[in-house]
Amino acid sequence: MPKNSSARTVVVAGGTDGMGRATALARLERGDTVVVVGRSAAKAADLADEARRLGAAERLDFHQADLSSIAAVREVIAHVAKAHPAMHALVLTANRQHLRRETSAEGLESTFALYYVSRYLLGHGLARQFDAAPDPVIINVAGPGTSAGSVNWDDPHLTRRYSTMRAQLQAGRANDLLAVEFAERPTSKARYVLYHPGFTQTAAINQFNQPLRAIVKVYARIGARSVADSAAPMIEWVENPPKARLTVDDRGKPVDLGRKMFDKANAARLAALTEELLDER
Ligand SMILES: NC(=O)c1ccc[n+]([C@@H]2O[C@H](COP(=O)([O-])OP(=O)(O)OC[C@H]3O[C@@H](n4cnc5c(N)ncnc54)[C@H](OP(=O)(O)O)[C@@H]3O)[C@@H](O)[C@H]2O)c1
Repeated sequence: MPKNSSARTVVVAGGTDGMGRATALARLERGDTVVVVGRSAAKAADLADEARRLGAAERLDFHQADLSSIAAVREVIAHVAKAHPAMHALVLTANRQHLRRETSAEGLESTFALYYVSRYLLGHGLARQFDAAPDPVIINVAGPGTSAGSVNWDDPHLTRRYSTMRAQLQAGRANDLLAVEFAERPTSKARYVLYHPGFTQTAAINQFNQPLRAIVKVYARIGARSVADSAAPMIEWVENPPKARLTVDDRGKPVDLGRKMFDKANAARLAALTEELLDER
């Protein structure tokens, strides 16, 4: 399919699998140019085959990067800025469960680095490209709506009492605050959507250890949403962003921004902490 006049340019950070992949392919099918960031060359080859099948191979721009590395995220931003002067949408789906505590190239706890810091950097780093597009939107796919977990202000890298769940929940709450800060102190005209897709049948469920993996798989078969259902609003928001500066959506329902996880003072505090750790690196 040739590029049409209403076509958009979209970055999907974490677009080689799951909901990110579904969004990337749907947008390619609709004529958009899509930059996909992921690590796996095999998944990228599979995505390229699918793009060819859709007649969209030349509009897929795959960029291999480990987004838990600050340096690699900065390279992605530089690549996107050079190749794509206007950016209509940024879709943030990269995440991974770490069963044991791991640290990133720059020494951050890996979940915090990938699931939160990369999203902070990409959202701010592409400000100029968003401002060059007519109706830009950032879609951050995380877990808003749940109050479980918190930012561990005195130990954000979880050097003490690490668990996969604590790390995931901390980064989830950090993304709640990131969204609030974007709306409070915008660095571009991009509107922000924070989206909880609910339990979804993606490869993410294979990341658990046994016997939890077997239990999760059984539950996924009966209780999880399909990738197509969970990705459907993401695909739509790229084209029709909500009018509000910040929209928080939990499986189709708006989330009350007055809840404590959206505390504005904490949002400013986390932004300051993040800037500090980025300055050091
Ligand atoms: N699935 C659910 O039930 C569920 C529920 C609530 C919220 N969510 C959230 O929704 C988002 C998408 O989830 P999903 O289940 O669709 O994910 P997924 O199928 O596991 O896909 C994750 C994507 O992230 C990429 N990725 C992982 N580590 C990376 C790294 N270090 N650098 C670059 N890319 C990396 C993967 O690419 P490579 O494999 O190529 O590295 C893949 O494209 C996540 O933020 C997740 O927390 C999911």
